[in-house]
Amino acid sequence: MKKLFFGALILSFMSACNNDSLSNQEDASQDPGTTPGMLASKRSCPSDLIREKALKNDPALRARFEANELQSDNFLRDLSMGRVLADGTVEIPVVFNVIYNTTSQNISDARIAEQIAVLNADYSATNSDISKIPAAFQPSAAGNVKISFKLVATNRKQSTKTGWRSDLEEMKKSTTGGINATDPTKNMNIWVVNSILDENSQPGTLGYAYYPESAGLWYDGLVIGYQYIGKTGASAPFNLGRTVTHEVGHYLNLPHLWGSSNTGCQTDYSNDTPTSPGPNYGTPSYPLNRVCGGVSRSQMFMNYMDYVDDKAMFMFSANQKTRMQAVVAAAGPRAGLR
Ligand code: ARG
Ligand code: ZN
Ligand code: CA
Repeated sequence: MKKLFFGALILSFMSACNNDSLSNQEDASQDPGTTPGMLASKRSCPSDLIREKALKNDPALRARFEANELQSDNFLRDLSMGRVLADGTVEIPVVFNVIYNTTSQNISDARIAEQIAVLNADYSATNSDISKIPAAFQPSAAGNVKISFKLVATNRKQSTKTGWRSDLEEMKKSTTGGINATDPTKNMNIWVVNSILDENSQPGTLGYAYYPESAGLWYDGLVIGYQYIGKTGASAPFNLGRTVTHEVGHYLNLPHLWGSSNTGCQTDYSNDTPTSPGPNYGTPSYPLNRVCGGVSRSQMFMNYMDYVDDKAMFMFSANQKTRMQAVVAAAGPRAGLR
């Protein structure tokens, strides 16, 4: 009896909570002494009142609420970012924004196509040099990352500027001589410029990118020197398109192997990439041991997230793959309910 009463009560609450628009007017008119209109004005769902009180009194609960809202936002962005192919591969639309001074800096469509092909090879582990992974690192190789890239637009603009400061981001706004991003929530934008300068107007970087916390902001995406796009006519030893492979790694939440600091020996949040004191350059020969915290480890310098020459890098790790997958397809806080 008691059970039945509570059951009925719960049912009536459920119908009230689910029925803001009062589309189910039959139920309401069966209630003696009320009209649908009256019922609508009296009905309320206590969920929000209960929540409001709880959130006000419990900062930890409030933090969880905010984290869930953020996750939901990110999930929406992730859904709109790419298309999920039949095998689960997420296909990311790519927009190239080429800003050139001389005509040779106005890289060809063919070179842009080469760059997209390099990305698709490197991120699917179908690059021709994949077989060079040392035996000791083969168990931790990513294999197919299941993220692919599709060129959807190429925008071009001539400019009198001969260098672009990374701290000003003038290449990303038409009002400052650049090209506006094409909906950065839906596309990975790549700006190609003649020269990237630091805050002291000094050159020194091949490219840079923003991590996922900048998702969808006006400056989100990659900036790459024209010399390092694609292969044909690109500048050795960075002429295999791996600068973009590396920067897309950052865009998909991969830090350098030595962590996001100059001190080195910091975490890169992947436990299958050996801790590293700092970048390697050129074409190191394997094995190469380096020390962090008194422990010497064989370095995974052939990982795309090091600084070696293009021909010396040819792998992501399995943990890096998981991190990138987490960025393009997130799991929610209630995943345990499934
Ligand atoms: N931002 C890095 C740099 O300028 C990119 C390194 C890319 N490495 C490469 N082999 N393409 O050094
Ligand atoms: Zn980097
Ligand atoms: Ca690591």
